[in-house]
Amino acid sequence: MRRYHVTTFGCQMNAHDSERIKGLLEELGLGEAATEEEADVLVFNTCTIREKPDTRLAAHLGNARALKERDGERVIAVGGCYAEAQRERIFELYPFVDVAFGPGSISHLADWLGAGGIGVDRGRFGTGEERSFAAELPLHRERRFQAWVQISMGCNSVCSYCIVPKVRGREVSRRPGEILAEIERLAAAGVTEVTLLGQNVNSYGRDVGSGFAELLRAVDAVEGVERIRFTSPHPKDFREPVIQAMAECAAVCEHAHLPLQSGSSRILKTMRRTYSRERFVALAERMRAAVPDLALTTDLIVGFPGETEEDFRETLEAVEEVGFDGAFTFVYSPRHGTEAATLAGQVPGEVKRERIERVVEVVQRVARERNAARVGLVEEVLVEGPSRTDPSLLRGRTRRNTTVNFSGSAVPGELVGVRITDATSTTLRGEQPVAAAA
Ligand code: SAH
Ligand code: SF4
Ligand code: F3S
Repeated sequence: MRRYHVTTFGCQMNAHDSERIKGLLEELGLGEAATEEEADVLVFNTCTIREKPDTRLAAHLGNARALKERDGERVIAVGGCYAEAQRERIFELYPFVDVAFGPGSISHLADWLGAGGIGVDRGRFGTGEERSFAAELPLHRERRFQAWVQISMGCNSVCSYCIVPKVRGREVSRRPGEILAEIERLAAAGVTEVTLLGQNVNSYGRDVGSGFAELLRAVDAVEGVERIRFTSPHPKDFREPVIQAMAECAAVCEHAHLPLQSGSSRILKTMRRTYSRERFVALAERMRAAVPDLALTTDLIVGFPGETEEDFRETLEAVEEVGFDGAFTFVYSPRHGTEAATLAGQVPGEVKRERIERVVEVVQRVARERNAARVGLVEEVLVEGPSRTDPSLLRGRTRRNTTVNFSGSAVPGELVGVRITDATSTTLRGEQPVAAAA
C-alpha cells in the first residue's frame, strides 16, 4: 500500500483542512505513514501569515528534496496559503514539487494524484476561481470526541498587515442546513465538543440569509453537543444578538478569542481594524457582564509600522485594562502584497524584539493572576489524555479553554469535575475530588 504523510502549519483552519486532505488520500486508497521519511506522498499544508512559517517550510522542503533524490517515485505536494501566495512561482522556487494547490482547491489533489496515488500530473496548480469548501471532502478524524466544523471560507476584512484575504479570497458562508447536518452526524458518532471555524467566524451568514447568533442557537439545540467553541471572531462583528446567544446557550463555552492587535487607537486605524481601544474595552465589558466567568484571550502585534513607544505602552495598558486570560503575541512581519508592507516607519528589528519581550511579560503576569483566581474552584474538564509533561497525570480543558493537568481516574472524552489547586500563566493543576466514603 502506498502511504502519505501530511505536515501542517498555521491556524485551526489548516488543521481542519489537513483532516480533509487525509480523508481524501485515504479515499484514494493510501494509508497514513508515521513520518515524512516513510511516506510515498508527502503533503505540506502551508501557512504564510508571517515570515517564520515560510522559513520553516523551506527547511521541511529541503528535507523532502533529499528524500526524493533517494527515491524518485516519491510525490511532493504543497498546499495551503503559502502555495496560494506563491502560485506563480512555486515550481520555480521548488522545482522538485510535483503538485501545488491553494486552500480552496484541495479537491483537485485527487485528480492530480490519480487512483491509488499513482500517475501524478506534475507541475500543475489548481485555479483559484473554482473555490470549494474543504468541509465537503471526506474526513479523517484525529480526535474521537472533538471536531472542527468549517462554517465559512475567506475574509472580507482589509486589515492592512494581513495576507489572508489575498490567499483565502472573499468570504463565503456555508449553508446552515449543511453545517447542522454535519454536526448532527458528528454528534451521533460521539463528538461532544465542536469548534466552529471561519477567518471571521462571527460575520457568518449574511450571504446565506442567516447569522452567527442564529447558528449558535441551532448548534446548541443539537442533541449530544456539550461544548461549542468558535474562532476567530472580529470585534467589529460582535453584536448584541451574539452576546445574548452566548449567554443563553448552555453548550456555548465561556470563552472568546477576541483579537485586539493593538491598544493604540491610532495604530488600530492604520491597521484598518475599524474599532478604537475604547470600543474594544466597552465590548469586553458588555460581554463579561452578559456571560459570567467569561475568559477572554487575544492576539497582539508589536512593531507595526509607525508604532511609537507611546503607542506600544497603550497596548500594555490595554492588556491590563481588559485583563486578558491569555494572548498570542506576534512581532509584525511585512507580507508582500499587503498595504502595511509599503508603509513608512517600519520599526527596527531590535525595537520589535524588545517590545515583544515586554508585552509577553505583561501578558503572562495578567494571565497568571487571572488563573490564580481559579484556585479552590471545581471546574468542568473535558479529558483529552495523559498530561504532556507528567504521564501520571491526566490532561483536559475547562470550559474557559484553560489546560488542566490533574490527578484522578477518568478516560478521554469524559466530562469530570476537577478541583483547582495551582495555576501558572497558561495552565492549571488540580485533582479529581475523592467521593466521600459511604
Ligand atoms: N482570522 C483571524 C486570524 C488571522 S491570523 C482573525 O482575524 O482573528 C492570526 C493572527 O496573526 C492575527 O490575529 C494577527 O495577530 C497575526 N498576524 C496576522 N498578520 C500578521 C503579520 N503580518 N505580522 C504579524 N502578525 C500577524
Ligand atoms: Fe486577516 Fe483581518 Fe481577515 Fe483576520 S479579519 S483574517 S486579521 S484580514
Ligand atoms: Fe496561516 Fe492561512 Fe491560517 S496564512 S494563519 S494557514 S489562514
